[in-house]
Amino acid sequence: MRGTSSYFLGSALLALLPSTVNAFYLPGAAPHNYVQHDPVDVYVNALTPMLAGSDNSKLKSLINYDYYNPQFHFCTPEGGAQSQPESLGSILFGDRIFTSPYDIKMLEANGTCQILCTAAIPGEDAKFINGRIREDYALNWLVDGLPAAEMKKDTKTGDLFFDMGFNLGNDDDDIPYLNNHYEIVMRYHESSPGVYRVVGVLVWPSSRGGSQEDESTPNCDVEVPKLGLSENEMNNIRYTYRVTWDATRWDNYLHIFDPRIHWFSLINSIVIVVFLCVMVAMILWRTVSRDISRYNAIDISEDVQEDWGWKLVHGEVFRAPRYPMVLSVMVGNGAQLCAMCAVTLVFALLGFLSPSNRGSLATVMMVCWTFFGGIGGYYSSRIYASLGGVNNRKNAFLTATILPTLVFIVMFLLNFFLLVAGSSGAVPFSTMLLIVVLWFGISAPLSSIGSYIGSRQGGVSHPVRVNQIPRQIPPAPRHLRPWASALLAGILPFGAAFVELYFVMSSLFASRAYYAFGFLALTAGVVALTSGTVTILFTYFNLCAEEYRWHWRAFLTGGGSAFWILAYGLFYWLSRLSLDSFSSVALYLGYLFLICLFDFIVTGTIGFLASYWAVRRLYSAIRVD
Ligand SMILES: *[C@@H]1O[C@H](CO)[C@@H](O)[C@H](O)[C@H]1NC(C)=O
Repeated sequence: MRGTSSYFLGSALLALLPSTVNAFYLPGAAPHNYVQHDPVDVYVNALTPMLAGSDNSKLKSLINYDYYNPQFHFCTPEGGAQSQPESLGSILFGDRIFTSPYDIKMLEANGTCQILCTAAIPGEDAKFINGRIREDYALNWLVDGLPAAEMKKDTKTGDLFFDMGFNLGNDDDDIPYLNNHYEIVMRYHESSPGVYRVVGVLVWPSSRGGSQEDESTPNCDVEVPKLGLSENEMNNIRYTYRVTWDATRWDNYLHIFDPRIHWFSLINSIVIVVFLCVMVAMILWRTVSRDISRYNAIDISEDVQEDWGWKLVHGEVFRAPRYPMVLSVMVGNGAQLCAMCAVTLVFALLGFLSPSNRGSLATVMMVCWTFFGGIGGYYSSRIYASLGGVNNRKNAFLTATILPTLVFIVMFLLNFFLLVAGSSGAVPFSTMLLIVVLWFGISAPLSSIGSYIGSRQGGVSHPVRVNQIPRQIPPAPRHLRPWASALLAGILPFGAAFVELYFVMSSLFASRAYYAFGFLALTAGVVALTSGTVTILFTYFNLCAEEYRWHWRAFLTGGGSAFWILAYGLFYWLSRLSLDSFSSVALYLGYLFLICLFDFIVTGTIGFLASYWAVRRLYSAIRVD
């Protein structure tokens, strides 16, 4: 079959990408070396809703709960659970990591059934737990930075795959059963004689009814009925676990998804890019060069003839658009976000970011964004000056404050919903304060410095002068109306990215591992290229139609993919989510709004800057008397 060979080609190419190598640790978080009998700590993270195994299952909530939320009655370590330090990004993503009472030592107690504790769960809390079981909540453990996974079978294809986290319970026959026994398989690897590393953790949870007595020699093998919690009376639950040490090498989570789907996405993107590049190349080489030689020839022969096409508007193209302040602030912020995305993707490609830890990605993004404040200020002030603006101070101030403030307000509102829902994902006040300090303490001053440098350099020079009296604009054809062209042009970058977008969404909302940073970087490159070229194309069409007000149109056309992302997000909501609480819906729509806003600003900026470059090139190629 053709598919197999392309799969092998894909794997070979994939192996060349550094991100797939076993380098998923941040420099400070290298894997721990253990000798025999060393304690191996199990950390517990917040409970998250999970997509069940099959392809058509839906995500039922978006709210995280603390592992030690008193309603769960999980066993606590002696002396209370200790909170573990986390990165800024992890906190924003709702990770809350604590110590656990599991007593596991390297290569000890292999296959011994152990009792963790017995918990008394009153009826009210049993009701809460049953509700969470029905919503497919999953437990998330971490051992030496590795998330515990459950091996599952895809109900459609029968393939085995690893899913991060494991079920709190199961409701196979519509009756919720709590999992109170954990089969833990620790995969280890002898890195040098007598020195071991943990390379994988698998957990099979199961529900064990029967006697919940605290026996001295418990038996984990007995077949007993499942354990359902009664919602009317006190339940006594015994938690048991058994650790098996397994030396088989199993050191990656890369089999979670089939990589072929990513190759499909990539080929899809490449086809779109090739199609676009051919189109643009044809227009540039045939039409434009013919136009230029024709214009210049006419001038030489002194043949008095009417000008036509884009040359007609040479006295208008550099006329300042309306609202130059808003446009330049958006471009400045877009440039800052572009730089952030580029550097974050380089980090991810170099393998510095763990695929199992979404927080590290967010941390790098936040830090990059903060330190690229200067880029934002610089671009904003130069574009502002080029568009004939004079109020530099106001421009610098708005560039540094308006987007962070907007984002902060949205985050604040979302946090409010999380607090109301009693979720542990709510961002603590101290973290909020840290973000404010980062944004307004580092990013804003850097942005002002950038603005100052930019305004000293002034605007870019324009190859042709602007006429005193504006020209009449003929009515535009229907496909060149601003909204139509934004939607038309947006299809291409969106089409290049939408398969990858599905994985990003699943990683964001359904806590799935995202590891394909190589694909993500390639896709981002393709999106940038497509947004730029397609906007140049539409700007050219506009100028040919004697519509010279291209500045705002270019931004809107470039950002057109955001409208498609919004539509896709709503489709994802209908097809993959079945959120029943208002907080979850508000949360989802809030995040979707932020994603679309960022996409609009980033791709809009790319489109605007690309068009600006193209227009300057175009009009410096012709001779104007
Ligand atoms: C632990 O027990 C399992 C079988 O129960 C065995 O396959 C494995 O090799 C044992 N591990 C060690 C380190 O003895």
